[in-house]
Amino acid sequence: MAFLIGIDIGTTGAKALLIDAEGRVAGSATVEYPLYTPRPLWAEQEPEDWWQATIDALRQLLHTTSVDTAELAGIGLTGQMHGMVLLDAQGQVLRPCIMWNDQRTASECRWIMERVGRERFLELTMNPALPGFTAPKIIWTRDHEPEVYAQIAKVLLPKDYVRYRMTGEYATEVSDASGTVLLSVGERRWSDEVLAALDLPREWMPTCVESTAITGRVTAEVAEATGLPAGLPVVGGGGDQAASGVGTGIVEPGLVSVTMGTSGVVFAYTDTPSRDLAGRLHTFCHAVPGKWHVMGVTLAAGGSLRWLRDALGATESDVAALTGVDPYEILTAEADRVPAGSEGLIYLPYLSGERTPYPDPNARGTFFGLTMRHNKRHLVRAVLEGVAYSLHDSIELFRSLNVPITQVRATGGGARSRVWRQILADVFGTELATVNVTDGSAYGAALLAGVGAGVYASVPEACAQTVKIVDVVEPVPENCRAYDAYYPVYRSLYPALKPAFDAIAEIT
Ligand code: XUL
Repeated sequence: MAFLIGIDIGTTGAKALLIDAEGRVAGSATVEYPLYTPRPLWAEQEPEDWWQATIDALRQLLHTTSVDTAELAGIGLTGQMHGMVLLDAQGQVLRPCIMWNDQRTASECRWIMERVGRERFLELTMNPALPGFTAPKIIWTRDHEPEVYAQIAKVLLPKDYVRYRMTGEYATEVSDASGTVLLSVGERRWSDEVLAALDLPREWMPTCVESTAITGRVTAEVAEATGLPAGLPVVGGGGDQAASGVGTGIVEPGLVSVTMGTSGVVFAYTDTPSRDLAGRLHTFCHAVPGKWHVMGVTLAAGGSLRWLRDALGATESDVAALTGVDPYEILTAEADRVPAGSEGLIYLPYLSGERTPYPDPNARGTFFGLTMRHNKRHLVRAVLEGVAYSLHDSIELFRSLNVPITQVRATGGGARSRVWRQILADVFGTELATVNVTDGSAYGAALLAGVGAGVYASVPEACAQTVKIVDVVEPVPENCRAYDAYYPVYRSLYPALKPAFDAIAEIT
């Protein structure tokens, strides 16, 4: 039987996942690496760390699974999006990667939008320039590190640096390239117009292909270091969100996923590019050839619950340490004893600023409506509900663009909580399904490798053969009515508080 490998260059570590052609997970290995914060709101990583972690993870995977490497059909790459890796003419890394969650480039974003013209920029790239995206980081380097800028020969995304080390090829694919805001997303190729307007040489950009295309093969040197067979095809893969879309089967109209990690991402498949004219959603190429997706991002989803656990959950953490039960399970079980709507307590999850629907670094987390009646259980429930309201904002934006929604699938760590899944179903007013796949991005990358290597005829066929629904939560009508009443109040709070958020940002 054919086996496939998906490699995910994540924010905390590199994961190598092995599946067989029927989609069964045969093993996985993760090796972590550090994240550097040289200044507040900056985030950097060393590309060499990703590469060493990838080699270690592959060695561990092949060792622990004892797979017959002759049965390996291909490798797919995925990873954190938007990071900027700069190489010189010898292929050497020029500076640490500036990552997706780095916030240093607000003024470069304004410059880019003015330079190209806001309307034209949105028309070509289908997205505004946001501080996390790649293009503003290149402009930042031009303005702050001219000696580095002068040596640039190639600009790569994180997973594509690993591809370069693995195969010697400079290549990317359309889903990750969309997040640079240098791609003409409608045409699925680099935008000569945007590159020229920003004075960025076309030769800096790697070859850009569809996500299932073979981009190169494992070199003899890498085969020696990892145990992989030399010549094994390495397929385009996808940005972590598009690959996760594939890994959870979001490959046809009507399907939407909600990924509950530190951030929460609502992701929908579209046959044609669906663009929010105000630029509140991201419109990117999908990893399904010739298709697109839209997504909205709540920056602090699981991050909000982790904050609450750290701030107020010492008792639960102690009980968890004694009993071996997950502290989140204890906290969410408490929240289940509070009625839908938390008796009038509303939480805004903007602990890290926000992306959707308010791209606003000044937005702040807020509890609204506190009374003497409210206790810790209410606070926990309000946090779970506030995150759900924020994700619902993205769903409502999808609806306003006529993106069909027939089923929502929840994945990621936060989706393990049955209580949170029920709240999501009740706030969205839709059934919420769970699939058999947990590491969606790495799994999706492996499926894309399978399509590239000819194991599956197409991406939808790969998903049909492997991704299965394992649980469905139905909305409870009474709870839906409560949330229908509270959601407009939630919606009214950000606009009302915006001047106060700006004032606080100014003071601090
Ligand atoms: C997507 C995004 C994150 C990163 C890191 O726009 O910023 O998903 O890719 O996971």
